[in-house]
Amino acid sequence: MKNQGLPDHLFDGRPVIGICNTWSELTPCNAHFRKLAEYVKRGVYEAGGFPLEFPVMSLGETLMRPTTMLFRNLVSMDVEESIRANPIDGVVLLAGCDKTTPALLMGAASCDLPALMVSGGPMLNGKFRGQDIGSGTDVWRFSEDVRRGAMTECEFVEAETCMNRSAGHCMTMGTASTMASVVEALGMGLPTNAAIPAVDSRRYTLAHLAGSRIVEMVREDLRMSKILTRQAFENAIRVVGAIGGSTNAVIHLLAIAGRVGVELNLDDWDRLGRGVPCLVNLMPSGKYLMEDFYYAGGLPAVIRELGDLIHRGALTVNGKSIGENVAAAPCHNRDVIKAANEPLTGDGGLAVLRGNLCPDGAVIKPSAATPALMKHSGRAVVFESIEDFHSRIDDPKLDIDETSVMVLKNCGPRGYPGMPEVGNLTLPAKLLQRGITDMVRISDARMSGTAYGTVVLHVAPEAASGGRLALVENGDMIDLDVVERRLHLDVSEAEIERRRAVWHPPAPPADRGYYKLYYEHVMQADRGADLDFLVGGSGVGLTRESH
Ligand code: FES
Repeated sequence: MKNQGLPDHLFDGRPVIGICNTWSELTPCNAHFRKLAEYVKRGVYEAGGFPLEFPVMSLGETLMRPTTMLFRNLVSMDVEESIRANPIDGVVLLAGCDKTTPALLMGAASCDLPALMVSGGPMLNGKFRGQDIGSGTDVWRFSEDVRRGAMTECEFVEAETCMNRSAGHCMTMGTASTMASVVEALGMGLPTNAAIPAVDSRRYTLAHLAGSRIVEMVREDLRMSKILTRQAFENAIRVVGAIGGSTNAVIHLLAIAGRVGVELNLDDWDRLGRGVPCLVNLMPSGKYLMEDFYYAGGLPAVIRELGDLIHRGALTVNGKSIGENVAAAPCHNRDVIKAANEPLTGDGGLAVLRGNLCPDGAVIKPSAATPALMKHSGRAVVFESIEDFHSRIDDPKLDIDETSVMVLKNCGPRGYPGMPEVGNLTLPAKLLQRGITDMVRISDARMSGTAYGTVVLHVAPEAASGGRLALVENGDMIDLDVVERRLHLDVSEAEIERRRAVWHPPAPPADRGYYKLYYEHVMQADRGADLDFLVGGSGVGLTRESH
C-alpha cells in the first residue's frame, strides 16, 4: 500500500472506507464517477477515515448484449467478494445506470456492513427545437415517427445529440431514476440523493457529505440490516407508485430483500401499491424530467406528501428517521409534484396479475397504459422469439389488427437468457400509419422504465421453463382485466395438455461459463431473478490468512 504514497498514520486503525466504483467509459451514465469518488474521499478524510476506491464490473444499458440484467447477479458477486476479501469497514457505493444500483445493494447487503449509496444523478433535460425531450421515452416516440414517415433519420440523429448533453443517467423516470429514488426511500442514500442532476455542484456536495457520514456509520456500527427492514421495503414500494416508477423495481427490490432476509413477495407489491396516488408528473407517465423534479423539491417533497402511507420511523443512513428527514421538505412546483388530494392519477401502484396464463404472477404499470385497454379480450398473435417478431412485424400480410393481443415468448430469465427489455413491442407499421398508438402486449420479458403502453410483463413461470405462455397459439383468446387483476388464456385444459405433450424446451444458451451458471440457477421473476445460491448473506468475517 505504501507504493501509493500513503503515510504511516493512515494505518493507525482508523475506519477503512471502500468506495465501490462502477465507473466505465462503456457505461456512459457512470462515466463521471471518478470525479464523484474524489469528492467522497474528501469527506472520508475530513471525518478521519481512510478511503480506498476499488472497481467492480460496470453495466451499461446502451451497449451490453444480450442484456445487462444477465450480469446484475454477477456484479453483485463481484461486489460481495471484493468487500469481504479486503479489510473494508464501511463502503460507499457509486451507482447510476439501471442495473448498477441493485447489483451494488445486493452484493453489499450479503456482507451486511455499514454502507451508503451515492447515485450518479440524471442528465440535464434534453432540449430539441424549443422543446424538452426525455431519454428513452422520446426515443421510442421518435423511432415510431421515423417508421411512419413523420420524422427523417437526419432529424432523429439531431434529436439524439440534443437529448444527451451532459453527464448522468437517463433523465426520465426510467429505471435508473426509479432505483435512485428507491435508494432514498429505503434510507440507503442521503436526502435528495435521487434527483440532483449529475452536473449540479450539489451532487458533489452530497458525495462529500456521504464520505463523512460513512465514517460515522462505521463508528456507530450502523449496518445495512438495521436500515433495510420490512418497513423500509414497504416505503420503497409505495414511493415507486407515487413517482410512477419503473416495473423493473419490482424484480430488483425482491432480490435485495432476499439478500437481507426480509420476506417480500409480488402480492406485497399489489397490496401496498393499491391506492397510492401517482404524484410525480414525469415521463413516461407524465410530461416533466428529473431536472424539473429536483428544482420542484425532489423525492423528500413526495415522501412528505405521502403522509401516513409512509412508515415515518424507518431509520436512514444519516441516523435520522425518514419522517424526520422530510418533515420540512418544501414543494416549489405543484405541476411537477402533485398534492396528494390532486394526484396525476389516483392509482400509481404497479398491478400484479394472476390467472392461468401467469399462475406465479405478471406485472403491468397502469399509469403508463391506455385506460380503454385495461379490460380487453383479443385473439393472440404469437411470436416465438424477438427475432421472429422483428422478421414479421412489418409484413403487410401479418394477420393483426388493433384488437389483437401481441404475445412474445422465450424472453424470460432463462429463455433469452437474462430477461431483456423487449416487452414493449413496437406496433406494426401498418397500424401506426392508421394512427393506432397502443395495443395489449404480453411477454415474460421486462421493459425499459422509460417505455409506456398497455404492456403485461414478467409472466411467471416463463415460456422457456414450461409456463403456459409457451403453449399459446395464434388465434387463442386472451382476457385481460387489470381492475380484477386477471390474465386468462381461454383454451380448454384438454387442449392445453395436448399442446404440452408435444412441447420441447429450448436448448440451453451455453455449455460453459457464466451463462451456464446463470441458466442453471436463476430464479423466476416473481423471486427477483436472483441466483438461488446467492439468497441471504455471509457477513464480512475474514477467516484465514493468505500467506
Ligand atoms: Fe443508463 Fe438509461 S442508459 S440509465
